[in-house]
Amino acid sequence: MRIVLGVSGGIAAYKAVEVCRRLVDAGHEVTAVLTDAARRFVGEATFSALATHPVPEGLWQRWEGGIAHTRLGQRADLVVVAPATADLLARYAAGMADDLLSATLLATRAPVVVCPAMHTEMWEHPAVAENLATLCRRGVHVVPPGSGRLAGGDEGVGRMAEPATIVAAALALSARHGDLGGTQVVVSAGGTREAIDPVRVITNRSSGKQGHAIAEAAAARGARVTLVTSSALEPPAGVEVVHVESAADMHAAIAAAAPSADVVVMAAAVADWRPKAPAAQKTHGLPELVLEPTPDILADLASARRPGQVLVGFAAETEDVVARARRKLERKGVDLVVVNDVSAPGAGFDHDTNEVTILGADGYVAAVPLTSKRQVADAILDQVVARLRRGTTGSNDSKRDTKEG
Ligand code: C5P
Repeated sequence: MRIVLGVSGGIAAYKAVEVCRRLVDAGHEVTAVLTDAARRFVGEATFSALATHPVPEGLWQRWEGGIAHTRLGQRADLVVVAPATADLLARYAAGMADDLLSATLLATRAPVVVCPAMHTEMWEHPAVAENLATLCRRGVHVVPPGSGRLAGGDEGVGRMAEPATIVAAALALSARHGDLGGTQVVVSAGGTREAIDPVRVITNRSSGKQGHAIAEAAAARGARVTLVTSSALEPPAGVEVVHVESAADMHAAIAAAAPSADVVVMAAAVADWRPKAPAAQKTHGLPELVLEPTPDILADLASARRPGQVLVGFAAETEDVVARARRKLERKGVDLVVVNDVSAPGAGFDHDTNEVTILGADGYVAAVPLTSKRQVADAILDQVVARLRRGTTGSNDSKRDTKEG
């Protein structure tokens, strides 16, 4: 694989030397591209000696019979930027191309991994967070920094991830690149809102972040994605978005999209019940709410599924998590259930991180420790891809008889 290793100017540039060596040791063809600031931290000669190619001088150089500022990016199979400074992230998010690294980032269609490294104050600045969010929406993969010693004797969050972590994440990303190409994926996200009257609704705490991350990851892996969402979050780029409000809206939107889908991921927290007769006008005084169950969209999908279609359900539990999820898997007749213990710190509703267990109808069980929702999304999609490849998805004999509380 041809890898461009971008190095921008932070003290973590010294750890990029190790990233370079590990990528070369793994059998890849590596070209290091240094910003001017990076050259102040680590000498060009070090990267030229370790990488497969000498370090290109800059924008104006010829490269492999072409012009360096586009040729490097066009020919790359993977671009890794380690460290990615606040300045580099800002220039990349703004689409600037004023040096060889930023031009390469714009000229590539290969997957890109950025490994931010900066002081805690900068890492926590909204400008940096917004730039990263923009890049994530565009499909850029982030290996987040850890906590520890920083330049100048400071300590805190912002220390670049370790070289082994970066290399593992970069190679995993590249293996996933395009593995959903040619497939149609439908993802639902968010908590539905069920009208009591024109003013009030019954809803739940789901933010839609996990579902949106799944849609984003599926699109990055080459799928055509339809995202059916009740969330107010900005949807990821490159996906078809259907906005819905209630379980009934979601049912109709999913029913329209699912027949042509290879994969349906029901990450939405669909209301289990709704007011039976929502008032046409605003209610005054204390209403007597009579509830009725909503249609179970996922179970309907399972009973109408076409051969080879992969169905994924979610479960949010607070106790007896895996046993309940196992029963849900059987009851709904789906291939995979992703269960989160919403009482665990940092996991579940409205967090950017999640911690889940993935269960398969084939007996597969794997815990995904606390990590970003995007990484949880990729772990789920790895299992989806494995089942698409095996062609062993469930049949229609879902055991939908009882429903546990
Ligand atoms: O039965 P429960 O609500 O716990 O199941 C959760 C899973 O079922 C989620 O994947 C959710 O999107 C889906 N679901 C559904 N229709 C409902 C309720 C839940 O598709 N009415």
